[in-house]
Amino acid sequence: MKALVKETAGVGMTLKDVPTPKIGANDVLIRVRHAGVCGTDLHIWEWDAWASGRLKPPVVIGHEFAGEIAELGVEAKATGLVSVGDKVTAEGHIICGHCRPCRTGQGHVCERTQIIGVDRDGAFAEYIAMPVSNVMKLGNIPTDIGAIMDPMGNAVHTALEGMVAGNTVFVIGCGPIGCFAIGVAKAAGASKVFASDFSEGRRELARKMGADVTFDPAKDDVVAKVRELSGTNGVDMVLEMSGHPAGHATAFDAVRLGGRINFLGTPAKSTDVNFAKSIIFKGLTLYGVTGRKMYTTWEEMFALLRGGKLDPRPVVTHRFPMEGMAEAIELIKNGKAGKVILEI
Ligand SMILES: NC(=O)c1ccc[n+]([C@@H]2O[C@H](COP(=O)([O-])OP(=O)(O)OC[C@H]3O[C@@H](n4cnc5c(N)ncnc54)[C@H](O)[C@@H]3O)[C@@H](O)[C@H]2O)c1
Ligand SMILES: [Zn+2]
Ligand SMILES: [Zn+2]
Repeated sequence: MKALVKETAGVGMTLKDVPTPKIGANDVLIRVRHAGVCGTDLHIWEWDAWASGRLKPPVVIGHEFAGEIAELGVEAKATGLVSVGDKVTAEGHIICGHCRPCRTGQGHVCERTQIIGVDRDGAFAEYIAMPVSNVMKLGNIPTDIGAIMDPMGNAVHTALEGMVAGNTVFVIGCGPIGCFAIGVAKAAGASKVFASDFSEGRRELARKMGADVTFDPAKDDVVAKVRELSGTNGVDMVLEMSGHPAGHATAFDAVRLGGRINFLGTPAKSTDVNFAKSIIFKGLTLYGVTGRKMYTTWEEMFALLRGGKLDPRPVVTHRFPMEGMAEAIELIKNGKAGKVILEI
């Protein structure tokens, strides 16, 4: 089968023929139809400090995907959950099921998480093998939407943890995940959604996804405007989706006393925070988001999509065949695109 492989330590990926994966008793083989390309894939392409410290080439890249069931292992078949031909997507974090977080309903922070396309072979390929426990039927949701449910799930997890309904929400950073989060916050009944990003293209996407007001941190006094427009001297809830220290500083300044910040954006370095002023005496609640809750987040996301409350399609701006990976990476690097997907 054709696959995009990180063959050796260094920049780039290679499109080549590799053996079709073998499945175990508890696995299914999936014919991949669509796959999402994201910032993680850019890190892997560029072979930065994180990627070179974590990946062990050769490995097939790609962790966001959807396709059709092609084959089932004996135990996978016995579950009766899926059949050959079913359209499915899958949670790309494969967890151990035995550690304390796994046993206490917190599998999203499993101590032994393996990520497809990072720690084991991934989805930029014609076929991928997945444990049946990670697979979800799409029903009438098309595979190009199924392929972006991983990052959309990050947004659902971030936006629904806390107190959105009837409250003001500020999304900092309008990359694909920030834009999805805007749609989720609106669907969940936020009274007003503010959003900020340096890129006008991304602010436009944010407005398409339902942001009431957008700000440009390069020109606007974002904190003053948010305080004024929220009417409560700050927003009830901030969703930090930029992963930049300046975004963190804005989050702490823009949130109201007693408010909440959910952090998804992942900074490369430590951030300086005045704990007394910015957290303790503000009475804040902080929440760190890792991946998607298994499987509460997925259930919530399916409900939002099937109920017609969330339409993620405006965020998808570009589509490429696997041969176009270099172009896809370039677009993501320039921050010009929304969500980029591969058609496989
Ligand atoms: N915690 C997790 O499980 C998890 C999972 C996936 C992604 N992430 C992280 O979430 C973040 C969002 O992902 P994405 O794919 O949408 O990323 P992205 O890089 O495409 O988007 C980030 C956006 O933030 C904007 N930005 C930067 N500084 C800003 C500031 N000071 N104020 C406002 N906007 C600012 C950028 O212009 C960019 O558009 C990234 O940091 C990513 O690494 C975390
Ligand atoms: Zn991703
Ligand atoms: Zn575990």
